[in-house]
Amino acid sequence: MAAKAASSAPFLQSRAAATAFDTAIFNATREVVALRVPVKRCAAFMKSLQGCLLNYPRMRNIVTDEASADNSTKLLLLSDKLKDVSELPEAEAQFVSAEGVGNTKFSFDLDYTYYGADECFKKLLPADIEAPASFETIGHVAHLNLRDSHEPFKHVIGQVILDKNRGIRTVVNKLGSIASEFRTFEMEVLAGVDDMDVEVKESKSVFKFNFAEVYWNSRLQQEHGRLVAKFSNKDVICDMFCGIGPFAVPAGRKGCTVHANDLNPRSYHYLVSNCKANKVEDKVTCYNLDARAFLAQLVADNVAFTQVCMNLPMDAVEFCDVFRGRFDSWHARGIALPTVHCYCFSMKEDFGGCKEDVLTRVEKALGCPLDRSTVTLFQVRDVAPKKLMMCVSFPLPPACAYTDSVAAEAAAAAAAAAGGGGATAADGAKRGRDEAEEAAPDAKKSATEATTAKA
Ligand SMILES: C[S@@+](CC[C@H](N)C(=O)[O-])C[C@H]1O[C@@H](n2cnc3c(N)ncnc32)[C@H](O)[C@@H]1O
Repeated sequence: MAAKAASSAPFLQSRAAATAFDTAIFNATREVVALRVPVKRCAAFMKSLQGCLLNYPRMRNIVTDEASADNSTKLLLLSDKLKDVSELPEAEAQFVSAEGVGNTKFSFDLDYTYYGADECFKKLLPADIEAPASFETIGHVAHLNLRDSHEPFKHVIGQVILDKNRGIRTVVNKLGSIASEFRTFEMEVLAGVDDMDVEVKESKSVFKFNFAEVYWNSRLQQEHGRLVAKFSNKDVICDMFCGIGPFAVPAGRKGCTVHANDLNPRSYHYLVSNCKANKVEDKVTCYNLDARAFLAQLVADNVAFTQVCMNLPMDAVEFCDVFRGRFDSWHARGIALPTVHCYCFSMKEDFGGCKEDVLTRVEKALGCPLDRSTVTLFQVRDVAPKKLMMCVSFPLPPACAYTDSVAAEAAAAAAAAAGGGGATAADGAKRGRDEAEEAAPDAKKSATEATTAKA
């Protein structure tokens, strides 16, 4: 494998060892019993003896019989548990004797290339060290999140993953937790080439980026698709923390008008190039701003967005105060308020606890209660034990979006349209805002549609 020049990635700390272990330890010769079967009877033998065959993964049970000059027979390899045909169970023994075939010994060599990753780990790791259960694939990069106990074996683990997974050319291990503002993380190369420039296909879009420079999570593929499926081609999307475009690009392909923003200049760079590569540069306008400034700019520019996407789960809820009192001009122009899709983490005991936690925090940030009959909570994935990633979707409440006098006017108009008392509704909006500021969780117990699914 030819090594590429080192990438300019800021966080790569070490190079993989050239060879992590001596593969000769896998070399072995096996000898098994083989039946000398006429070619035309092979299928019948396979069927009658199926429980007694060698059945090694990635190996054929029938091999060439080198002793057959006219190729009229093949060797059928029996289980390595049998030392002799006399050890066959009764029914199988009767079948073999009725067919009157001869038998012989067959030996073959095994080496490292034969074994699967699990078998290699069993041979290479101490019995009390569990092999890593899974890894994330980002193009040609396998991304592991190893435990402390794996530290002495990390290069061995990396090498096996590299060798046993077609398409993987680089194996990296995450160091520490995602803490940076741009949600990138330190990583070390365990095996393969030090090349973080990846190409990923997701929902018919192609994304090229440097995995060390920007945020990407292949485990969110389903969630990206779920949300984009909710949009119609009439929607105008405001993607406040867009990364390199996994919501924005497919939404653009769908025909939506998209305004996509990310604070990381490298994310912005790849967003622009990915929009071009996927031919949606006419549908997606790209911004490199702080999310608050971005939202302010869209409102100032009279962009009437219908959907807001906020995928910054650590902090997005707290960003919801950016909507407060910002949309009076929309009311004057008769523009409907958008639906907000806000991602967040919650660490409560169960889904019910997480739901209440999230809604209370959103209401506090909005400064008013949500009409919970209009809220959807979707469980995106278990990030860690007792840590859920959720998406809360809600129509932006007028009591948040408008300043008090416009909120009262809007509530009165809505009540009049519904044939009710305007003053009561307006008072309600104001009272709700005051209540939310006190953030009393007990006041909010009405029905919220809760959808659970594991990504
Ligand atoms: C969790 S990632 C999500 C990216 C993308 N939406 C996705 O699903 O892959 C959050 C993104 O928010 C960006 N970000 C962090 N703080 C920001 C801010 N204050 N304003 C705008 N973007 C920000 C990060 O650079 C990162 O790309």
